[in-house]
Amino acid sequence: MKINFTSLAGVAALYLFIFMFGSCSKSGTPTPVNPCSGVTITVNGSITNPTVPGISDGKITVTASGSSSLTYNLNGGTFQTSPIFTGLAAGTYNVIVKNDNGCSGSNTFVLTDPNPCAGVIIVLNATIVNPSSAGASDGSIVATATGSTGFTFSIDGVNFQSSGTFNNLSAGNYTITAKDVNGCSGSDNFNLADPNPCSGVTINVSSSVVGTDPCGTPAGKITLNASGGVPPYTYQLNGGSFQTSNIFSNLPNGSYNVVVKDQNGCTGTATNILVPELSAGPLFSQVRNVLQNNCVSCHNPANSNGGMNWTVDCNIVQFSNRIFERAVNGNPSPMPPTGLLPVSERQKIIDWINAGAKYTD
Ligand code: HEC
Repeated sequence: MKINFTSLAGVAALYLFIFMFGSCSKSGTPTPVNPCSGVTITVNGSITNPTVPGISDGKITVTASGSSSLTYNLNGGTFQTSPIFTGLAAGTYNVIVKNDNGCSGSNTFVLTDPNPCAGVIIVLNATIVNPSSAGASDGSIVATATGSTGFTFSIDGVNFQSSGTFNNLSAGNYTITAKDVNGCSGSDNFNLADPNPCSGVTINVSSSVVGTDPCGTPAGKITLNASGGVPPYTYQLNGGSFQTSNIFSNLPNGSYNVVVKDQNGCTGTATNILVPELSAGPLFSQVRNVLQNNCVSCHNPANSNGGMNWTVDCNIVQFSNRIFERAVNGNPSPMPPTGLLPVSERQKIIDWINAGAKYTD
């Protein structure tokens, strides 16, 4: 015991000390045995937490040992003979256990509220409205939650609002969180998609073609005209790469498929666009007749004298100069070998050569 002699309390304590112990030693009476010496009262127990947050139905059942005739006290209340304290809310409790001689032991018990979210499953549903057009920010999410009550909603996980409606949204993924009165939460992802820019779009493709001389350098041409989409368009021929020009040139005769793509990637197609062979020109046709009548007997697939087969039109075009030399000039020897054709027939060859000696002449 530390005594402060300068204080009144200290002086009083000193007199009490002398009264209790000093007087005994003076009178010679034996010092009384401390009844608690050697007595250790151990306080243990079991707890039952409140069943619902905020409800006072917790319980502490004290199990004390080390002495008998015990009484029990909770948080400085009245001592009672029962070691059971009921009707307790969550909190920290100090229990003192005392025997008849006033010897005591104590322990602390902590009662906790149950997790208010245990067993609470919050499920979100939402009605979503996609943006009205690609890139627009007029989509919305109207979220509702089930599984608890008193919900607030958040789209950023930070700011909560009582309404589950979130407006002015662009396309994207959103996580909506719903929180109940106890702070228990659930969340879910909702995706707003830009509308398909091609839905309802029909791109019409029309074409104009120029045929090609089957015996000349390929010179066919397809010119495409697209409508119905969002320009600019790009154009693809027979699965090739897309190009910005709507004209395909230098094409051999044949059938072609095209795809036209607009700015949004919407496509239109046209199939079986025919690049025709140009037909034989009148001068060529006359020469072909001359050869048919005077030459193919010796120049055909089965018997192509001098390597020449005049049943194939493009052979006539390709070897026009040799025809001229043999059948017009007779150089180095005339064709037919029996003698040059009449002048009128030879003139047909001359006219064709002078015009350019093409299939289309
Ligand atoms: C009776 C058969 C016969 C007839 C008809 C005939 N040829 Fe030939 N031709 C030949 C023979 C054989 C050769 C190969 C020998 C030669 O080059 O003289 C030949 C070779 C040629 C050659 C290839 C040689 C070269 O100079 O390049 C040409 C071109 C040719 N004839 C053009 C004609 C034409 C055009 C006609 C018709 C107006 C014709 N021939 C009619 C038999 C014929």
